[in-house]
Amino acid sequence: MDSLVQTTAFQQKIDQDLNIEPKDHMPDAYRSHLIRQISQHAHSEVIGMQPEGNWITRAPSLRAKQILLAKIQDEGGHGLYLYSAAETLGISREEMIEQLHSGKAKYSNIFNYPTLTWADIGAIGWLVDGAAIVNQVSLQRTSFGPYARAMVRICKEESFHQRQGYEIMANMMKGTAEQREMAQDAMNRFWWPALMMFGPHDGDSPHSGDAFLWKIKRKSNDELRQKFIDKTIDQATLIGLTVPDPELKWNAEKEGYDHGEIDWDEFHRVIRGNGPCNKQRMAHHVKYHEEGAWVREAAAAYKQRKNEF
Ligand code: 3HC
Repeated sequence: MDSLVQTTAFQQKIDQDLNIEPKDHMPDAYRSHLIRQISQHAHSEVIGMQPEGNWITRAPSLRAKQILLAKIQDEGGHGLYLYSAAETLGISREEMIEQLHSGKAKYSNIFNYPTLTWADIGAIGWLVDGAAIVNQVSLQRTSFGPYARAMVRICKEESFHQRQGYEIMANMMKGTAEQREMAQDAMNRFWWPALMMFGPHDGDSPHSGDAFLWKIKRKSNDELRQKFIDKTIDQATLIGLTVPDPELKWNAEKEGYDHGEIDWDEFHRVIRGNGPCNKQRMAHHVKYHEEGAWVREAAAAYKQRKNEF
């Protein structure tokens, strides 16, 4: 089949809401778009383990420590599903890691902020995983089969992450004045970077055109951001937290909140590597990737040995 016929057949499958599987013909541009997005998604899951891991030894109770350990372990698993989904497109794990370390590949802006107090762990679970759920529920209908299926599994675990974060914030808001202040401070520091997680405004998103043509995206950056805002504000109000946006206002006509403008200079500064923790996150990842080389070598040697018999 010549490439025009193949590409037409490909687009027809997309238009019929059929999944594209790894062995199907796909345009190179579709493949590279997915490798970019899925590998960056995977990087985000793994780098995201760092800010939370910072509080394992300081969790305020054994129960809190167990929950945090379970959550961080889940994130590592999410990274594995996503790296595996990306590998079906023909890129190796080594190449993806090299792209991360060289700065060619990004990871989510949100993980370049420090976790200064225990309330930050609550804010991350509630806001960051809450934002991730809104984005990932939509991605369950993405056109690439392995990615869509990975999302189904991840979303189930993400719900636990969001609930445990909200529980931390709710408990702190029922606590002492100092604990309430700590929770509000975490809200103030994480609210706007969480809105940035959904990406630039639709009109400033260079990838969204193709993402919609190929049904990689089902909802736009702004649609998902609005959905997150509308559901999260009521949760904040319920436990007495103030959303740090003086321009927040219910818009009855659109049945959603109008909100202040996001600081896109901060967004671009952070995703270009100049956020509060970018250098620390990368140095940590490089250090432990290098220290773990022997594990990968041993696993590869075992696999080779096993295949010899
Ligand atoms: N952080 C870093 N870079 C971002 C970003 C963010 N929040 N939002 C957008 N960008 C980058 C894009 O990667 C792209 O740069 P690139 O060309 O170098 O890749 C550029 O900004 C333009 O953005 P677009 O909106 O045009 O790009 P996309 O169409 O790829 O949309 C996205 C961006 C909405 C993040 C999309 O890639 C996506 O849905 N990705 C999957 C979800 C994901 O990666 N989530 C990260 C968080 S994972 C997480 O929170 C784990 C949880 O368990 C804690």
